Amino acid sequence: MTHHMDSMKKEDKKYIESLTKEIVRLKKKRNAIIMVHNYQRDEIQNIADISGDSLALSEAAVKTNVDVIVFCGVHFMAESASILNPKKKVLLPVKEAGCPLADMVGVEELRAKRKEFPDAAVVCYVNSNAEVKAESDIGCTSSNAVAVVRSLPNKRIIFVPDKNLARFVQSQVPEKEIIAWEGFCPTHIVLKGEDITKAKKIHPKAEVIAHPECSSEIQDIADHICSTASMFKYVKSSKAKEFIIGTESGMLYKLRKENPDKIFYLPSEHLVCPNMKLTTLGWVTRSLELMVHEVKVPKKIAERARVSLEKMLKITGERSGATISGV
Ligand code: 13P
Repeated sequence: MTHHMDSMKKEDKKYIESLTKEIVRLKKKRNAIIMVHNYQRDEIQNIADISGDSLALSEAAVKTNVDVIVFCGVHFMAESASILNPKKKVLLPVKEAGCPLADMVGVEELRAKRKEFPDAAVVCYVNSNAEVKAESDIGCTSSNAVAVVRSLPNKRIIFVPDKNLARFVQSQVPEKEIIAWEGFCPTHIVLKGEDITKAKKIHPKAEVIAHPECSSEIQDIADHICSTASMFKYVKSSKAKEFIIGTESGMLYKLRKENPDKIFYLPSEHLVCPNMKLTTLGWVTRSLELMVHEVKVPKKIAERARVSLEKMLKITGERSGATISGV
């Protein structure tokens, strides 16, 4: 049995190596770049030219001068890259890789909410569809949501679609009234307070870091709440040696790679985003081979959505949250 598993592993390794080689070849042929979100599978992060959080990837999409962006993430991320970079071909290797949170707000409902609160500005989390971005005053990611809300003259803010991020922003900007949409990330909300309590019992010295898409229960007990990119910075600056990571499992790959002297624990085996995990090396190869699946946003919607994303990028200014690597 052991022998069989060992030989299987060898086969797996060979398979991964040969696909990686093929991807490098095709990438050159297509003049393409591979952008990878921090929640992707380890072997996909390993082939990244640029990896990072939603904000870093949006910024990188603006700057890149290749012909093709292969976006290993979910649909709204590829859509944002295409909105910001309309002349480039943006490919999403698996067309079904969506985001249930993004689908929790629609244009008609948002228009109705605006009518209800005409004095409010609409801030739209990047985890949303292009039509909703087009209807919003400004975009934000979990990295810059607080800064974006603070920058607005309006006292009232309609925040779509994530109620947990909205709650986090409200705690940081108490002088404003945040009207939270009722959306949530189905992966982050599975994390329960008791998961953290259990993990803390086993690893009492560990600090708890959580993503703001986690529920209020988790936000209340976490030592630090931040976006995936900020987690890297926080871990580097912290004196702690052990960390309980309250976000999607993919984060552990780069955290471990960049911090070999520190230990990271996932407090729940359910912290796995099924959409993020759809992308495999095989699909990336196919994507470059056949140039599929192109993500394009109708011009009228893209132009309006771009305004809200560009306003957001202006507020954040130049940062360097992305990891530039490449194979
Ligand atoms: P960030 O990487 O921007 O923190 O966002 C995480 C996320 O939930 C993406 O869907």
